[in-house]
Amino acid sequence: MMEGKKPSVIDDTRQFIVPGNEEETIKYAVEHLIFIAKESIAERGAFYIALSGGSTPKKIFTLLSNPAFKSSLNWEKVFIFWGDERSVPPTDKDSNYKMAFDFGLKILPIPKENIFRMVTEKEIDKNAEAYENLIKQVVPDLSFDLIMLGMGDDGHTASLFPKTKALEVKDRLVVANDVPQKSTKRMTFTYPLIHKAKNVHIYVIGEEKKERVAEVLTDKTKSAPSAKVGTSKHPALWILDQSAASLLLKH
Ligand code: 6PG
Repeated sequence: MMEGKKPSVIDDTRQFIVPGNEEETIKYAVEHLIFIAKESIAERGAFYIALSGGSTPKKIFTLLSNPAFKSSLNWEKVFIFWGDERSVPPTDKDSNYKMAFDFGLKILPIPKENIFRMVTEKEIDKNAEAYENLIKQVVPDLSFDLIMLGMGDDGHTASLFPKTKALEVKDRLVVANDVPQKSTKRMTFTYPLIHKAKNVHIYVIGEEKKERVAEVLTDKTKSAPSAKVGTSKHPALWILDQSAASLLLKH
């Protein structure tokens, strides 16, 4: 646990923290990431992280590649995966890999062989299986040190969208999920893999998410896919800025 402000407990599987405005929240997210990375490198000689898409990680990667933070980690010990990917080539503007690359990975001195992108531009089902096997080979105990997630307007997280089949998957770590509401397939981590992680952070920033945040975090039935993330052993940590948390804080 980092020094300073403590997270608030929602229930046995979820906690949240509101570090301040957008800038303060991004800074907290980056410092927390570095803290976990250093701890993991000290404990097991490596830091295994899964990135997500979305607007918040973009800001996190940008700050992370700032010289002050860039020099604070042994990047050769960092292993990068993705928690989900759209079915596009890595050069596409919608690619989560491209986003991370453009906003941070091209600047940070991470060895190329430590970066494992999801191959989604072809044979997505077969490649989901291959990615699962890769994780089995590379990540000890299948346990990521940190999985970064976001929450979409419909309550989805990673590419676990409402009413899609991947939500029910118990025997796979990575699947190609049919997302009829977006007329596409996306590759995604499943709950069984997410729940093996030591830390899961769900970042939500911005006024426009405040209703959904309050609903997802107070609904006792946990109907939204993002609400189901977290275990009693490793509760999910929701990192919210003041605008996204404003209605939740009134509850
Ligand atoms: C993606 C994501 C997705 C994202 C949320 C939140 O590929 O789009 O992995 O799950 O995290 O939609 O996105 P924002 O941070 O842009 O709100």
